[in-house]
Amino acid sequence: MSRYTSPTWYKDAVFYQIYVRAFKDGNDDGHGDFKGLLSKLDYLQQLGVDCVWIMPMFPSPLVDDGYDVADYRNIIEDYGTLEDFKAVVDGLHQRGMKVIVDIVVNHTSDQHPWFIESRSSRQSPLRDWYVWSETDQKYRDARIIFLDTLDSNWTFDPISGEYYWHRFYSQQPDLNYDNPEVQQEMLNIIDFWMELGIDGFRVDAVPYLFEREGTNCENLPETHAYVRRMRAHVEAKWPGRILLAEANQWPEDVRAYFGDPGAEEFHMAFHFPIMPRLYLALKQQTRKSIVDIMNRTPSIPPCAQWCVFLRNHDELTLEMVTEEERQYMWEQYAPEPRMRLNLGIRRRLAPLLDNDTRRIRLLNALLFTLPGSPIIYYGDEIGMGDNIWLDDRNGVRTPMQWDFNKHGGFSEADDLYAPAISDEVYGYQRVNVVQQQANPESLWYTVRHMLSVRRNYRAFGRGTFEFALPENEAILGYWRALDPDDESGGEPERFLVLANLTGVEQTSELDLGAYAGIAPVDVLTGHPWSEIGAQPYLFTLPPYGYYWLRLR
Ligand code: NOJ
Repeated sequence: MSRYTSPTWYKDAVFYQIYVRAFKDGNDDGHGDFKGLLSKLDYLQQLGVDCVWIMPMFPSPLVDDGYDVADYRNIIEDYGTLEDFKAVVDGLHQRGMKVIVDIVVNHTSDQHPWFIESRSSRQSPLRDWYVWSETDQKYRDARIIFLDTLDSNWTFDPISGEYYWHRFYSQQPDLNYDNPEVQQEMLNIIDFWMELGIDGFRVDAVPYLFEREGTNCENLPETHAYVRRMRAHVEAKWPGRILLAEANQWPEDVRAYFGDPGAEEFHMAFHFPIMPRLYLALKQQTRKSIVDIMNRTPSIPPCAQWCVFLRNHDELTLEMVTEEERQYMWEQYAPEPRMRLNLGIRRRLAPLLDNDTRRIRLLNALLFTLPGSPIIYYGDEIGMGDNIWLDDRNGVRTPMQWDFNKHGGFSEADDLYAPAISDEVYGYQRVNVVQQQANPESLWYTVRHMLSVRRNYRAFGRGTFEFALPENEAILGYWRALDPDDESGGEPERFLVLANLTGVEQTSELDLGAYAGIAPVDVLTGHPWSEIGAQPYLFTLPPYGYYWLRLR
């Protein structure tokens, strides 16, 4: 069975996250759209990604960039039509890629007809589709997520004279999952999109579906029960299609979202806490925080998979670190107040790392070898910059930089939804796809090369993970290993990944006696290392250097 047809294809896949509005404008109205995306599918194939994640694409007043849905069965006008979307799905499939889309299950827009009806009177037949209350004193133990803009999860509705519940902006009322009609309708919506041929969903804001007094209203047993129902539904009607959980929680709490054999929940879930620790480790010049969080990460069922990422469309979240670590991250990575948002940092990968290609390559080398399936955020493969002068999270959602032309080749329009970056360091005049594709030393080539090497092995997506820790704490080392099974066949795979987290050369040794007689080969360069003997194996890593050593 191939990587593409395997029912657990998502375990081998590299994902690529696309904000359609920012990717490519196909009709020159200043907004990216599906026609534009269609014209860039060859690009995605060249890069070597396996599955595209499309951010919200449903009609929306865009208070939260589409995470406020006004109609679950259509495409937002700016992006085109259902046919345009279908053409993208087919085009991806023809090229051997898959596609998942964002579905926002926890809340709708206040402009959704359900909410307009629900708020119209306390007797409305849809009143109970949302969470209403006479007071704003219920569920006081639930935290506020958009801390910089909200001071309550309740908003008074003057039309019907009650408060409604919302975990995000007040224009995003929470659906009431205690209502069986709401539960059923979400499954119907899932079917609608699955019928169009998509390969799954990234399910937004999963932990918050239910509310119960006396709890923090996150990860409740009722939420897990509904997720199991959703999974059973998908498994029965759409086998081979996946559900990916967005649950920004500690590893032990996310573990529950995979469920257990026979009571499955999600196929995949983001590993949020590892992400800030990769950046922490670089500043602290020690692997300690990475080792701690991986040791705190429970094992997951055989068909489940983590998703790992370096950046996404939101602020770099610092919810899953200690207070001390958060202050340190802010000091180190967000010295200016405008770089901070809620509990996070609203910057992109390259600027976070001072545009130091050694550190950018190093974090990518870890991203593609840590346990789980990696996700690349559009533009990070060329080291795009950000624009901290744009509000909210818009600074990391600027137009994709394709070439040297007007607006970086994104659009011929004069006015764009947001300006293309054109500063001296990160502007499209210097950082763009054409320029990087012409230079074999570029970040784009490095990322593409890593993906093409990763593709030859299954250990990175499916193998076991174990630390290999030399005495020198500036060096991160881990094993990824896979024994062949009936599905994959082939040779056993064993890799030792080594990374220098500092800007100075580091030397150390590991006891590799069990592999005496083997000469490790760095699969990224093809270079063989000296043969392992009975003595501890001595090695040196250049500043921010990394190796993917195969022991065969
Ligand atoms: C998580 C999404 O990533 C974020 O962009 C959005 O604002 C919230 N969920 C609310 O839907």
